[in-house]
Amino acid sequence: MRRKALNLIPAANHPTLDMLTNPGKPSRTGRGRDMRYSETISIDDLDRDPYPVYTRLRADDPIAPVPAANCWFATRWADVETIARHPDFTAVSPEAPVNAAFGQPNVLTSDGSMHQALRGGIEPHYRPKRVADYIETLVRPIAEAQLQSFLASGSNDLLTEYFEPVSALALARSFGFMEVDTPTLRRWFHGLSQGAINFERDPARDAICQSVVAEIESVALPLLERLAKTPDQSPLSHLLHAGMPEGQTRPPEMILPSVKITLLGGMQEPGHGAANLLVGLMQDPAQLAALRADIDGLLPQAIDEGLRWIAPIGTMMRTATKDTTVNGISIPEGTPVSCIFASANRDEARWDYPDRFDIFRPSKAHMAFGQGSHFCAGKWFAKAQIDITMRVLLEAFPTLTFADQPPEFRGWEFRAPTHCRIAL
Ligand code: HEM
Repeated sequence: MRRKALNLIPAANHPTLDMLTNPGKPSRTGRGRDMRYSETISIDDLDRDPYPVYTRLRADDPIAPVPAANCWFATRWADVETIARHPDFTAVSPEAPVNAAFGQPNVLTSDGSMHQALRGGIEPHYRPKRVADYIETLVRPIAEAQLQSFLASGSNDLLTEYFEPVSALALARSFGFMEVDTPTLRRWFHGLSQGAINFERDPARDAICQSVVAEIESVALPLLERLAKTPDQSPLSHLLHAGMPEGQTRPPEMILPSVKITLLGGMQEPGHGAANLLVGLMQDPAQLAALRADIDGLLPQAIDEGLRWIAPIGTMMRTATKDTTVNGISIPEGTPVSCIFASANRDEARWDYPDRFDIFRPSKAHMAFGQGSHFCAGKWFAKAQIDITMRVLLEAFPTLTFADQPPEFRGWEFRAPTHCRIAL
């Protein structure tokens, strides 16, 4: 694939991608051309509340350049679905923030045999049957113990004292990090997330991420050295050994970027998915009461509705390998296109009243776990973990109300409530 100047941030005498896709559009000023709405979107707008932005893009400009994010956005369900499977797009996306943050090769931005090898080290441990064998014995004791420490902590914030710790610890223990404590694990995923959301290439975000990356490597490298000599059943060990000729292991530099990606998504998202769901339920006590009355019947669909309503991971990056067309829109070769799952999940062409949180809506697949060959490797683990975390919480608290105002949500690549403070 030819890599050309992306023209996302207009330079003097340089045509923008807008000009490439809308040649001849008249200018209001007479000196240039009209500013396209997508070019006015800021990272702050997205961080605060991306949903009105996505609604407007879906209606008026569904595949459009967003210079603030250094990529294009695809916002309709049908277009995201098309791009995820389109032969003219690759996951090998030089512009994806995870490359700069965590290094390459990594499972998210590789294709073909490299992708298979990296995914193959992680995925088997998180397949549905395997997860069913160990999830109760792994997660329930963690959740129950964490609820006790929440009650003893003096804090009333379920986000920081319950959902995030359970999620971080469950993933770390399942993946092969057996010794690292919960505050460290939480610090790790918060630091890693600063790199993964760094679409705007902010040096401050990068510095936070890189200091955590150095810490993770200082823990992971000796662990990998030991596992190379003495394998075990953990995904960390599998990444080293699976599919390798007898006596050989993958070098740590080939594995570490994918370890960081799994630590980030695997530790952060189930906790945030659970918190998003709880806020949705607490904002509508009738739905919470209905769930309590039939938890076995309704919890699975409530979990999916929470993930659809606020997708914990908002986007995936794909890059056009040649000049191509999607939905009649020309996309030049080399263009990084962020496929916005969070927007696809609110597409009015697919759901009635898509902005509403409604655990009773007719069941339809959502995109919170992605699309295509990079579909989330931890989906079953995540859903089972949210299930147990919610049951333990609801059993312990027969009533749940917010301590003060309902929390706001923040973020667009990763979205979660700013807190989850309850009245105690
Ligand atoms: C509610 C929780 C979770 C959500 C919403 C979520 C969402 C996603 C999404 C949207 C993708 C695709 C990203 C892309 O294509 O760019 C993805 C990929 C991935 N997820 Fe998850 N995830 C969750 C939990 C987990 C857990 C617990 C694990 C632990 C194993 C995990 C491991 C991965 C891996 C390894 C990939 C990369 C797959 C590939 O590139 O082939 N995720 N996840």
